[in-house]
Amino acid sequence: MKRKINGTDLAFEQQEGNGVPLVLLHGFAMNRSIWQEMISNYLPSVPIISLDTRGHGESESTQGEYSMELLAADLEGLLRSLNIGKAIVCGHSMGGYIALAFAEQFPDRLAGLGLITTNAAADDDSKRAARYAQIEDIRKRGSIAVADSLAPRLSHNPTIIAWAHDMIIDTNPLGLIGSLSGMAERSDRSALLPGIEVPTVVIAGESDQITDYDASKTMAKALPQGTFIGLNNSGHLPMMETPKTLAGALLSLSKQVQD
Ligand code: MLT
Repeated sequence: MKRKINGTDLAFEQQEGNGVPLVLLHGFAMNRSIWQEMISNYLPSVPIISLDTRGHGESESTQGEYSMELLAADLEGLLRSLNIGKAIVCGHSMGGYIALAFAEQFPDRLAGLGLITTNAAADDDSKRAARYAQIEDIRKRGSIAVADSLAPRLSHNPTIIAWAHDMIIDTNPLGLIGSLSGMAERSDRSALLPGIEVPTVVIAGESDQITDYDASKTMAKALPQGTFIGLNNSGHLPMMETPKTLAGALLSLSKQVQD
């Protein structure tokens, strides 16, 4: 399905079910298909909305920076167009940055929060510089510049790496550039965490080569209703690497919210 939100066509999937819906936000250079197998195998009757972030998957790519605030406003607009008041917003990596921006901008619309292999801190100078260098590389070589550098770090499983590599190559370079500059300029939202009063699950992979495991633990401690789940068989993509465990954690979060 597609809806025009903030002037941009956004593609999404909606699974019907009772209760407050779970929103699933993919990470940088991915798209909503990353959740598909986990949903059909382990969450078949939970209300779920999974969307392709602007510039990813089947959503439209626009020029310019995709700030986390803009991407959170896209989500809010989509929920409003679907007449959904509150949602449990779960984001993977860059999706987590968007989820935190949503928590800050639309606290009344947040019923629960899932932070999956992500963090609340902003980029340091070297990370920010690396993102701008990558933007230049994409301008020269296209999406393969990201595929070659990111895919091998997403997992230790060669099948998942190959699958991710193909997905990244198919992602519009404009979407990659807009997201990289949005991530480079995002705010540090660590100070927001103690004020997030909804049930929250923080999920980290022990072999994640992108997001720091201990930073996730610290983040969970700062959240009034934070639960930390460490996955010893997962890297950066638990929805692919340990889908049953991740689905179980999301189901518990959903139950906690509905009760
Ligand atoms: C992601 O997986 O969304 C990105 O790698 C996150 C990041 O680069 O900070």
